Amino acid sequence: MADGTRSLTTRQGHPVPDNQNTRTIGARGPATLENYHFLEKISHFDRERIPERVVHARGAVAFGEFEATGTWGDEPIAAYTRAKIFSEAGKRTPLAIRFSTVIGGRDSSEAARDPRGFAVKFYTEDGNWDLVGNNLGVFFIRDAIKFPDVIHSLKPDPVTFRQEPARIFDFMSQTPESMHMLVNLFSPRGIPASYRTQQGFGVNTYRWVNAEGVSHLVKYHFYPHEGVKSLTEEDAANIQAGDLGHASKDLYEAIERGDFPKWDLYVQMMEDHDHPELDFDPLDDTKVWPEELFEPKLVGTMTLNRNVSDHHNENEQIAFGTGVLVDGLEFSDDKMLVGRTFSYSDTQRYRVGPNYLQLPVNAAKVDVHTNQRGGQMSYGVDLADGQNPHVNYEPSTMGGLAESAKPGHGEVGPEINGRLTTARIPRTNDYAQAGERFRLMEDWERDDLVKNLVANISEATREVQERMVWHFFMCEDELGQRVGEGLGITADDVRGLEPLATQTLSEEELERARNLG
Ligand code: HEM
Repeated sequence: MADGTRSLTTRQGHPVPDNQNTRTIGARGPATLENYHFLEKISHFDRERIPERVVHARGAVAFGEFEATGTWGDEPIAAYTRAKIFSEAGKRTPLAIRFSTVIGGRDSSEAARDPRGFAVKFYTEDGNWDLVGNNLGVFFIRDAIKFPDVIHSLKPDPVTFRQEPARIFDFMSQTPESMHMLVNLFSPRGIPASYRTQQGFGVNTYRWVNAEGVSHLVKYHFYPHEGVKSLTEEDAANIQAGDLGHASKDLYEAIERGDFPKWDLYVQMMEDHDHPELDFDPLDDTKVWPEELFEPKLVGTMTLNRNVSDHHNENEQIAFGTGVLVDGLEFSDDKMLVGRTFSYSDTQRYRVGPNYLQLPVNAAKVDVHTNQRGGQMSYGVDLADGQNPHVNYEPSTMGGLAESAKPGHGEVGPEINGRLTTARIPRTNDYAQAGERFRLMEDWERDDLVKNLVANISEATREVQERMVWHFFMCEDELGQRVGEGLGITADDVRGLEPLATQTLSEEELERARNLG
């Protein structure tokens, strides 16, 4: 028996003198139904799990802080954004981060070839700001309407429940904008050695807005102080034979021993318009912005210094979203971003519940006053000091909440006109950056990429294999040749293929298609 302070109770506060034996009539049963302690214990257990995330189910959470430089490079940051988190040198903001894999379930391998999620929640003085990114800097698709399809192709087959490369490359072969992501994902970068040794990118394009209402387009990049380290397929196989959770373990143990991981946050910026001089669209998340044209400049450093105290409360239930922005940080018209912004809070209302923002890990660390009431698991009412508790509507003359002060700046961003349409963006340019990425790799990375692509694409149909080789020739001759060699396909075999019906190729790309190899 424990001393008084540690003795077991039910959730009703009743003491539990016997936690070993069900209450029965006689020592051998039958059991009685009025046994409150047993019923509470077993029925709570029956409900212990919530639905896992539909993507990014496996992850690791840590807490820490962000320290701002107060500048963007040499310039005061206030010239570009009025967001208070960045405003002064040395300013610190608490944060939570969740690293994740994407496709596997919540107990799956952390050595899988898979993008890694990099989701940061900054608890700022203006409310929460979430930056929900990945480690590869680009994505498979550029329009949110394709997200369920790309994820279905990557998730297990609905019949065999096995991840099938034939299905993945069936979809990707019809989705040329995925080439840049695939060249990254099947290279060693596709299996980071640990969460501490991976980059983090916002990927989508956002806006910064200053006190005058002037906006700029921005992209976010986190660089780890530990450097970037990756695993080959063989390294990964060895690790996951012994441990499916090596990356969570590595992060947890580093923080426990006081070896606090750090990342510098850099921001790329361009003027807020569509940049017709570029051969890509600045709102296209399958593209990176060339660093020689748009230099990433330091804005602060993130340090992780505390582990979770409970996995369920602080990891399963933490909820990030791209709509969670603060004053001075804005959306762009990136089509992915709009779709993502609906999807995150939608799934969280289902997965965690309609009051998910009342949970401590998700709640803003500032006063919150709303007229939202009720819903499952609601507790507490976010009344303002002096608010009439009878008034949960607005406007009112009886002491309810009122709208906040109007911002002191004008409308944000450029004026936009256009017809309602379902057209794809004009500057798709699906191959150039994928080819460039391939050329920038070291020899061993190129070898590894080709090996991994051949091993996976060889499981696809001949038609899919040929289309993939055609795409790779369009990216870079050497990539097409080498993957083709591994699959027994030459440039002559694929030169006659027509572009996909869903593709618009530029003159330059058509020329390339005619002269493959
Ligand atoms: C998680 C949707 C694209 C990064 C999720 C979740 C959904 C989702 C529904 C589960 C959230 C939850 O249960 O809490 C979408 C849609 C996308 C999209 C509809 C495209 C239209 C992206 C992109 C990135 C990304 C481009 C990377 C830049 C993440 C991350 C998580 C996540 C990091 C895990 C957050 C966490 O750790 O809780 N996404 N996603 N997603 N997504 Fe996306």
